[in-house]
Amino acid sequence: MKPDLKVTIAGVEFDNPIMTASGCCGYGEELAGVFPLSRLGGLVTKSITLKPRLGHPPPRTAEVHSGMLNAIGLANVGIDRFIAEKMPFLAGQKTRIIVNVAGSTLNEYVEVCRRLNDVPGLDMIELNISCPNVDEGGMEFGSDPVMTEKSLAAVKKVFSRPVIAKLSPNVTSITDIAAAAEQGGADALSVINSVVGTSVDIDTWRPRLTNNKGGLTGPAIKPIALALVNAVYEKCRLPIIGIGGISSADDVVEFLLCGATAVQVGTALFIQPDAPVTMVRGLKDYMKKRKIASVERLTGKVRKY
Ligand code: FUM
Repeated sequence: MKPDLKVTIAGVEFDNPIMTASGCCGYGEELAGVFPLSRLGGLVTKSITLKPRLGHPPPRTAEVHSGMLNAIGLANVGIDRFIAEKMPFLAGQKTRIIVNVAGSTLNEYVEVCRRLNDVPGLDMIELNISCPNVDEGGMEFGSDPVMTEKSLAAVKKVFSRPVIAKLSPNVTSITDIAAAAEQGGADALSVINSVVGTSVDIDTWRPRLTNNKGGLTGPAIKPIALALVNAVYEKCRLPIIGIGGISSADDVVEFLLCGATAVQVGTALFIQPDAPVTMVRGLKDYMKKRKIASVERLTGKVRKY
């Protein structure tokens, strides 16, 4: 039996459910030197803003037990250079391309999406309303249901392909935010962005990030992410892309069972850059062993007590 790994999200077909997460492989150029990007279900770019950003000064990453903290501060080349210099390469890759979009104001989000609307070779936008490392935009928008709905509705007016809302775990009720995103017209949800955290150097008494705090990712957050994926799955009809500490094919299966249709791999790329390829292989083996014909059959099938 040849297991079918194809999944469909908002009418877009992916060869397999495994993508890279935003911010973990830039614009894909270096990763393409490790393995053909066609092995991925999709690639999600670093967040793109209207103007180029240098981000926070280093150190802006720190390793912690079972994970990593980051406070990059949305460093990126800006929309004009992204379209001119990065998109032609991405458009030539045989995988789905999702452009992550961030901004400090609603107008900025809208303007970036408007400019992306005519760009060929990108399949979807992922709206970053959950970055914990900036004072304006990001999590500020994604922790307020009214702003969440407004952001989605505004972007949907100027971008005609599907829009994914990337949700923050740092909220009182992620299901309220998911419902607001759906109300605003989101086509899918990415669940979750990083969990706010910090770490302090006990010799210097200084935080290990210049931003003083950052976002925790990696295996440390996997149980949180699974619970939130399942909570959103039970309350919301939109397809979910699960994110949070996925490091193996077994992890992928857990996310699918909890309600994800696809997943994104982030921190694992820093340990094993070709981890997604290993996961695709492992997922196929898992399905063969259990005679599961289509990966879509796994979504939401956790057998709860
Ligand atoms: O700081 C950063 O660039 C992180 C972005 C994010 O978590 O969305």
